[in-house]
Amino acid sequence: MSVRFAPSGPLRGTLRVPSDKSLSHRAALFAAMSDEPVSITGYLDAADTNSTLAAVQALGALVERRDGSLIVRGVGLRAAAPVAGVIDVGNAGTLMRLLPGWLAGQEDGSWTLDGDASIRRRPVDRVAAPLALMGARIEATAGRFPPFTVIGSALHGIEYELPVASAQIKSCVLLAGLVATGPTTVVEPVPSRDHTERMLAAAGVRISRVGDRITVAAQDELELGALHVPGDPSSAAFAAAAAVLVPRSRIVLEGMGANWTRTGFFRIMERMGAVVVGPLEEPADEIRAAEPVAELDVAHGPLVATVVEPDEVPLAIDELPLVALLGCFAEGVTEVRGAGELRLKETDRIAAVVEGLRGLGAAIEATSDGFAVSGGGGLRGGTIDARGDHRMAMLGAVAGLASQEGVEVVGMEAAAVSYPGFEADLASLRAS
Ligand code: S3P
Repeated sequence: MSVRFAPSGPLRGTLRVPSDKSLSHRAALFAAMSDEPVSITGYLDAADTNSTLAAVQALGALVERRDGSLIVRGVGLRAAAPVAGVIDVGNAGTLMRLLPGWLAGQEDGSWTLDGDASIRRRPVDRVAAPLALMGARIEATAGRFPPFTVIGSALHGIEYELPVASAQIKSCVLLAGLVATGPTTVVEPVPSRDHTERMLAAAGVRISRVGDRITVAAQDELELGALHVPGDPSSAAFAAAAAVLVPRSRIVLEGMGANWTRTGFFRIMERMGAVVVGPLEEPADEIRAAEPVAELDVAHGPLVATVVEPDEVPLAIDELPLVALLGCFAEGVTEVRGAGELRLKETDRIAAVVEGLRGLGAAIEATSDGFAVSGGGGLRGGTIDARGDHRMAMLGAVAGLASQEGVEVVGMEAAAVSYPGFEADLASLRAS
């Protein structure tokens, strides 16, 4: 489906963005690992998180919708059910990388995970390697791609130094640690999103952080009770970027998750000259159980270029395509460094961003681990292919609003992976 996004007048109004995708995946998975029913309010209703609900149901959990909430009745930490056939993760990389952590420690069974064409290009050796060190067996296609089979085994705790900052790998090892003997420690090169740590702490798990080391103890059960999923800062980032780029815009983002490990993009935007007013969380040494929520006021401002260094990358990983877009409108050279991980997302996001924005008139170059944009002149417009990637589709839409001639996005339907109401939300801000 192709959709044209015309140059826009000022964006104004208040937006309640969809619920957080990362937190929704974790809420459903951890509820499935619980013995007692867990009620989840604000679960994201999108393609990716529906894949997770289907997966946990296949593994024996009961899911019931009641008055806008989900009630998940899990199977407990050590009793995932056998599944006839494969578990289809769809397009969901987080599901594909977290679920094996739990399944690896189920002593009687094996499970095969597969997904769409994009998932089949995304490596799973990064989770298979630490799980093998814990005593698990994973058999993957060509040693590293889906479909792959997790053969449950008795696990033992390990100390694992992450080769890259990745919340998905970190979470996978911590989940395996819950059902292993002895403590499990993960060492992060730099902080990445900490939703798993927080939700496990909220479930009564013995989990601690000392510097860059996170340690979890084996557990009998998770005690979650009730969970609320706030708005997704990664989804909010698209509307925020649009407001920053279109002159005389001002929008309010309501109910947005403000976890420090997720709001790097808002700090980058502010550094570039955007007006961002609202209580974003500050970093802390210890693990906090709660997920903070904020109301943000975002407005247009004249932009200057910035450099995003490697330690900032995991805190804005899914928003880096938007940094490239802002860079087109910022005086000077905007650079993102140390972001090689972008090549392993739903599509190669370095190639997709560089080729896509260049086609709209940007002066942008790929580097080995990021990109550099010479900005200030804005964007002409044209056509961009989403390449089946939800964030590329939404990037094209925002580019259209801020461009001189408008942008046609080919494959706009991909946005439904994380943000089904995206076009309607943008339209409501244009109309207000
Ligand atoms: C996610 C972590 C990030 C992010 C992805 C969701 C998560 O991936 O890109 O969209 O929910 O843990 P990595 O941790 O692999 O960088």
